[in-house]
Amino acid sequence: MEQTQAKRIVLGITGGIAAYKAAELARLLIKQGVEVQVAMTGAAGHFITATTMQALSGKPVLMNQWDDSSNGMAHINLSRAADAIVIAPATADFIAKLAHGLADDLLSALCLARNCPLLVAPAMNRQMWENAATQRNIAQLIADGVTILGPASGAQACGEEGMGRMVEAEELAAEIVAFLQSNKSLNGGSLSLALSPGERGQIQRMDGVKILITAGPTYEAIDAVRGITNRSSGKMGYAVAQAALELGAEVTLISGPTALNKPHGARGVDVTSAAEMFAAVKQQVAACDIFIGVAAVADYRVAQTSEQKIKRGDSNMTLELAPNPDILAYVASLKNPPFCVGFAAESENLREHAKAKRKAKKIPLLAANLAQQAIGADDNELILFDDAGEHVLPRSDKLSQARELLQHLAQLYRQGNKR
Ligand code: C5P
Repeated sequence: MEQTQAKRIVLGITGGIAAYKAAELARLLIKQGVEVQVAMTGAAGHFITATTMQALSGKPVLMNQWDDSSNGMAHINLSRAADAIVIAPATADFIAKLAHGLADDLLSALCLARNCPLLVAPAMNRQMWENAATQRNIAQLIADGVTILGPASGAQACGEEGMGRMVEAEELAAEIVAFLQSNKSLNGGSLSLALSPGERGQIQRMDGVKILITAGPTYEAIDAVRGITNRSSGKMGYAVAQAALELGAEVTLISGPTALNKPHGARGVDVTSAAEMFAAVKQQVAACDIFIGVAAVADYRVAQTSEQKIKRGDSNMTLELAPNPDILAYVASLKNPPFCVGFAAESENLREHAKAKRKAKKIPLLAANLAQQAIGADDNELILFDDAGEHVLPRSDKLSQARELLQHLAQLYRQGNKR
């Protein structure tokens, strides 16, 4: 991944059983071109050895603030050379230290002295996670601009079941890489971290706003094994969901078949065909304030699908196709429609087609992109069309595009510009 080539992180490991997953996380990040400097607490050393982490990262692991070789200034120097500090796993105790600004070991001191974004992946027993003190500390970290990754829910090492597992290494690596890529355009941090406390006020938050998003392609079966689909990867729709979550929105993501992990905090609904997507949207739409149709919904389905695999023959074969419902147009025409946002992927005459589509679907905001540049790609160049005209977003990675789109949308939504 060329965008992450020059990125450097400090991977901080604290003392919990999930520390063993940090080895895999380091390996995955390095594989994607991220330089990883490991710093561990003493307690982390009970769960995973510095030798393991040193072998994987190719750098000496820093553990003790008293025996570093950089003039006793490791707690300052480390973050100066890093694009982000990632604490994974972060124990309840370490989170409490971060929330209160304690600095009694190398890792907490370097977090306090940092001048780069901090990402924290909590891992602990479910009762510890649910404890009011932990929740207070997490809320404080969020208010301080720290990005919290997870935790996930499921079986725990202690035998209990619930919220508090560390997010799996693969998923964490994907989120960290996406974060580092987005830094490129946001000048060194996630949306809130990139800005000074004064500037943070200018970000249009969407706390509690309910956003329903469709993403990915649909798959229209021909028979038991064949089908019609398109090359949509889902990356743009998932980036829109991520950007909405960052602003505090409640996100439901209805997705066709993709290879992507849903962003943390999104409520996911998986569908296959356009008919299934339509049914899921109908079920969810009444509860949403904003509907964003990013999915590349197949315009046609096979009129008569075969339950069995169709046998090969020597003569021509004709497939009869029936039109699929236009989900976005349906939502926009509801009696009390949510604020609707559409996407248009066109292969030619982008502006002309996009404007016509916005009008035909009667939606206040439409984001248009060139299909041959956007579908499956990591970057994009959206042109937003609304009542005021067009707004070109300069080319950047899809998460950055999504963040800009969400800011534009938040402004229109706030103005009550529904039509
Ligand atoms: O396919 P088309 O270019 O018309 O798609 C434009 C917008 O309409 C997109 O936001 C897409 O998600 C939505 N759409 C839909 N249902 C369809 C076709 C498109 O919701 N059947």
